[in-house]
Amino acid sequence: MVLSTESRLQLTPDLSICRILNGMWQVSGAHGQINPKAAIQGMFQYMDAGFTTWDLADHYGPAEDFIGEFRNQLIATRGKEALANLQALTKWVPRPRKMTKKLVEENINIALRRMNVESLDLMQFHWWEYEDKNYLDALKYMTELQTEGKIKHLALTNFDTKHLQIIIHAGIKIVSNQVQFSLVDRRPEVAMVQFCQQHDIKLFSYGAVCGGFLSETYLGKPEPRNVDLATASLRKYKNMIDAWGGWRLFQELLSTLKEIADKYGVTITNVALRYILDKPAVGGVIVGARLGVSEHIENNAKVFNFSLDQEDCDRIDHISQQSRDLYQIIGDCGDEYRR
Ligand SMILES: NC(=O)c1ccc[n+]([C@@H]2O[C@H](COP(=O)([O-])OP(=O)(O)OC[C@H]3O[C@@H](n4cnc5c(N)ncnc54)[C@H](OP(=O)(O)O)[C@@H]3O)[C@@H](O)[C@H]2O)c1
Repeated sequence: MVLSTESRLQLTPDLSICRILNGMWQVSGAHGQINPKAAIQGMFQYMDAGFTTWDLADHYGPAEDFIGEFRNQLIATRGKEALANLQALTKWVPRPRKMTKKLVEENINIALRRMNVESLDLMQFHWWEYEDKNYLDALKYMTELQTEGKIKHLALTNFDTKHLQIIIHAGIKIVSNQVQFSLVDRRPEVAMVQFCQQHDIKLFSYGAVCGGFLSETYLGKPEPRNVDLATASLRKYKNMIDAWGGWRLFQELLSTLKEIADKYGVTITNVALRYILDKPAVGGVIVGARLGVSEHIENNAKVFNFSLDQEDCDRIDHISQQSRDLYQIIGDCGDEYRR
């Protein structure tokens, strides 16, 4: 199976990605035990199906090492040319403090070494505390490392619109911002989407399947208790569903999605992903991959084979209108990490 060309996005002139990115938080240990050998085997399956782009971070357990090992195995089994078809987008999530060139470079070097690359495809920077302005220095030094060839493109994760604006006005070129964006969490639509459109910045959306809640598995099911939820991801998004409008409204959303899904012969998950992918400024959706434990490759490929019509979107929006305003409750993108 190889995905249609519609699955690709030319993010920059030198970086083409798959619009469904494989999320590697799921190998961190917080989503069940991962067997490294089975995980790397699984990475071949994704790549061969056309899901060639990985989203990872310095703190996702062995994720960066898995990319390094995957690259080694690709070279050994398929030759160096095979690497051209692999994109690995990592993150650096430092503790806020004074940022020196030495400190920034040391951390970028760690990612380069772990991932076994000479240059990072995309570095997505996270910052915990806006009162600490050292994030601007960190980005300035990363821009220098970009000029020196250690980073191909600079990006952010969980930055709000106000601080994204400060960074852009400081003259730093940002390619993308990774934020939570789903049928449950539509906060990016308040300000972020418009700003990104104006400045040619793409959004990468996580949480678009709410850890698996946006699927047939939870349709018509009683509300789960926290202890029933096996992954950190499910626990994270159950909190979001509670804040958004609760289980009863969520069931209404699932029923509506199911009716739309049946119309196209696809699944609830497919509809949830298609809806977010079609939003302006969205470059891609990140779907967590519990490598070697579970996979939804064949099903997720269907996202690129159908489109939603206006009536479908109106029906979904009608449910959203009944939910609480998460922008009022939580704040702009990423504010959940800063309280
Ligand atoms: N920047 C940040 O702060 C941040 C935060 C969170 C996540 N992320 C990124 O986003 C990625 C995704 O993480 P997430 O927590 O948002 O998880 P998610 O993608 O919402 O959920 C992943 C889970 O959804 C289920 N799933 C996927 N496709 C499915 C399908 N077609 N049908 C039914 N179920 C399906 C699978 O569950 P089963 O395995 O149980 O089958 C999978 O483990 C992370 O790995 C990470 O890369 C970034």
